[in-house]
Amino acid sequence: MRDSDSANPERRPRGRRRFDDDEPHFLKRGRPNGPAPTDDGPDPETDDTWSTWDDALHGPQPHPHWLVTELAAKDTELGVLKTGKEADVHLVRRGLPGTDRSCLLAAKRYRDPRHRLFHRDAGYLEGRRVRRSREMRAMTGRTMFGRQMIAGQWAAAEFAALSRLWEIGQRYGTVTVPYPVQLRGTELMLEFLGDAEEGRAAPRLAELRPSPTELRGLWGQLVDALVVLARAGYAHGDLSPYNLLVCADRLALIDLPQVVDVVVNPQGREFLARDVRIVATWFAARGLPADVVDPTALTDMLCREAGLA
Ligand SMILES: Nc1ncnc2c1ncn2[C@@H]1O[C@H](COP(=O)(O)OP(=O)(O)O)[C@@H](O)[C@H]1O
Ligand SMILES: [Mg+2]
Repeated sequence: MRDSDSANPERRPRGRRRFDDDEPHFLKRGRPNGPAPTDDGPDPETDDTWSTWDDALHGPQPHPHWLVTELAAKDTELGVLKTGKEADVHLVRRGLPGTDRSCLLAAKRYRDPRHRLFHRDAGYLEGRRVRRSREMRAMTGRTMFGRQMIAGQWAAAEFAALSRLWEIGQRYGTVTVPYPVQLRGTELMLEFLGDAEEGRAAPRLAELRPSPTELRGLWGQLVDALVVLARAGYAHGDLSPYNLLVCADRLALIDLPQVVDVVVNPQGREFLARDVRIVATWFAARGLPADVVDPTALTDMLCREAGLA
């Protein structure tokens, strides 16, 4: 894929499916891309490792009550939620041995830079400020160091966007994202959204066939969330029914590494318009009436909310 393909938000790269997605492999057993190594390594008996909480960057305060932050906690790999081109998402249980205190986490691990093809590397980097020019040159030249930096940058960018949106969601309640638990290199750990008993991830919007009433409710939630994003100066940048999970009737936004600063990015308006168009197409195809789904009006409104002329 040429960089210019992904630099242009109006054109999807050829050969990719219409929505950003790969086949789901829910809870495939096995560890093709195991946990980030720790000094102690996994316990050979149980395959557990010490919780990586202590040497990670933590999510926003106050930490949710369900989160296990004790240093004596252990992380257990439960399987793969999804493998993708750019990252793999694993299910991890963090629990305090000898107690019933535990929580489920989704560990999103950005791929080894040699083995991934990140379609979001080009256009989205515009307007992202990297102060040190050595790093900027390394990223542009795609040296090994540059690629590693890019992978870490995507994880850091997703962590920062989720942290900001989670805080806004706590205050105003109009946007739902998984709580960003921690960031460590190219690994991001998130609140697991789904059925904790079964370890089953919440369905993606794309997999659902909502009733007309449910469809209207979900559209309303989406519009509210997009307004919050626009007011914060963001476009999702890869919005699709695959990057929206429905958990306990709440529509949650996920997969935000390429979040776009619409004020700084010269193509901010186009990114907003494309996000809207992709989700509006899905809602219209599911039967939401045209007077409710008006992509042009919604894009205009979001541009106004973001302060774009
Ligand atoms: N916090 C989460 N809770 C539950 N499942 C998740 C979570 N984050 C991601 N997933 C699952 O992993 C899939 C891929 O995650 P995503 O962030 O969209 O990465 P990508 O599309 O880049 O591979 C999602 O479609 C969803 O099924
Ligand atoms: Mg995704």
